[in-house]
Amino acid sequence: MQQSILLSTLKGENTPRPPVWFMRQAGRVLPSYNALREKYTFWQMMQDSELAAKVTLLPVHDLGVDAAILFSDILVIPYALGMGLEFTDKGPRFDRPLMDFSDAAAQLNPEPQKLQYIYNAIDEIIKIRPDNLPLIGFAGAPLTVLSYMLEGLGSKSGFNGAISYIYRNKAVVEKLIQSVTEMTIEYALRQIEHGIDVFQLFETHGGIIPLDLYKTLFLPSVKKISRVVRDKDIPFIYFPKDIGTGLSSITPDICDFVSIDWQTPLAEARRIVHPDVGLQGNLDPRLLFADLKTLQAGLEKYHAFGKEENKWIFNLGHGFIPGTPVENAKYVVEWVKSVNWEKL
Ligand code: CP3
Repeated sequence: MQQSILLSTLKGENTPRPPVWFMRQAGRVLPSYNALREKYTFWQMMQDSELAAKVTLLPVHDLGVDAAILFSDILVIPYALGMGLEFTDKGPRFDRPLMDFSDAAAQLNPEPQKLQYIYNAIDEIIKIRPDNLPLIGFAGAPLTVLSYMLEGLGSKSGFNGAISYIYRNKAVVEKLIQSVTEMTIEYALRQIEHGIDVFQLFETHGGIIPLDLYKTLFLPSVKKISRVVRDKDIPFIYFPKDIGTGLSSITPDICDFVSIDWQTPLAEARRIVHPDVGLQGNLDPRLLFADLKTLQAGLEKYHAFGKEENKWIFNLGHGFIPGTPVENAKYVVEWVKSVNWEKL
């Protein structure tokens, strides 16, 4: 593909403005998505390659963002490992949570071909996407994916069951991490083969265990996935949500760009993250529920930041929340595109 503003920024080139896309831009916020969702279930939408391609591109047409992110979910990895998965009104649910088994690793039955439908969707997206529009592929990072596999249900639980299981069964958990990591690597490689341009790893639950445990038990797997992706010349963005002071350990061997959650001020993140690692983020998705004046005031600090910083992708500090007023999402994209970003 020819150069896009997102790929240029990821390569460290100067661009006239920061690129903009949003986490969870494909579902949740768009009336066009919600209308389709009345007719189809989430699984149906993911598994029909034409529908998945259409949904992937909706935010490009409706919001004007600079990239598309594949319409899929992080929990397809446990699905490919043989776990029965349902998406209910209350969130995802596994029928047999792994924390109920002392031999949890023996419960898995890897079948990578179950993810073929996603590669078909990528082929379809590549066929119909607008010129120079990069496609972001993704997966969940091992701690986040494993916390759902162990606990079996949505994030409201706080994952105390999953975390106590990790402490009680370290050897089993090491095997589970290995299975998740291997499947994720295969998944990332196939996404790359089929034509994604950028890869993002979502560690949404990066803050549910102590940082030192995270670094010893999970970070090595993140590095493995990152190495495989970057060896194929695909830029790697890592989103370690709630990692706090752990940002000071984010070095170029982990990722090209790190996505900052809404809790940490971007300028502070810039001071503590390694200078060769770019930043993405970190508008609070709840600010989009405010009136225009409050939203405009909240955007001002991003203007100041972007006038100084080249290696930065505008994004949210976590995904869109259902019910977000879509006109505010559009306003943010237009704002990024119209502000004067000339360097001071
Ligand atoms: O940006 C996009 O919309 C692209 C597709 C995407 C989905 N999930 C679609 C989805 C992406 C990138 C994800 C990532 C994901 N999934 C994460 C990490 C990012 C984050 O927001 O924290 C996590 C933790 C999940 C797990 C998951 N999937 C949950 C907790 C839920 C239920 C609540 C919800 O709406 O997110 C899902 C279901 C899901 N994944 C939906 C969508 C569009 C909703 C399905 C529906 O329409 O009912």
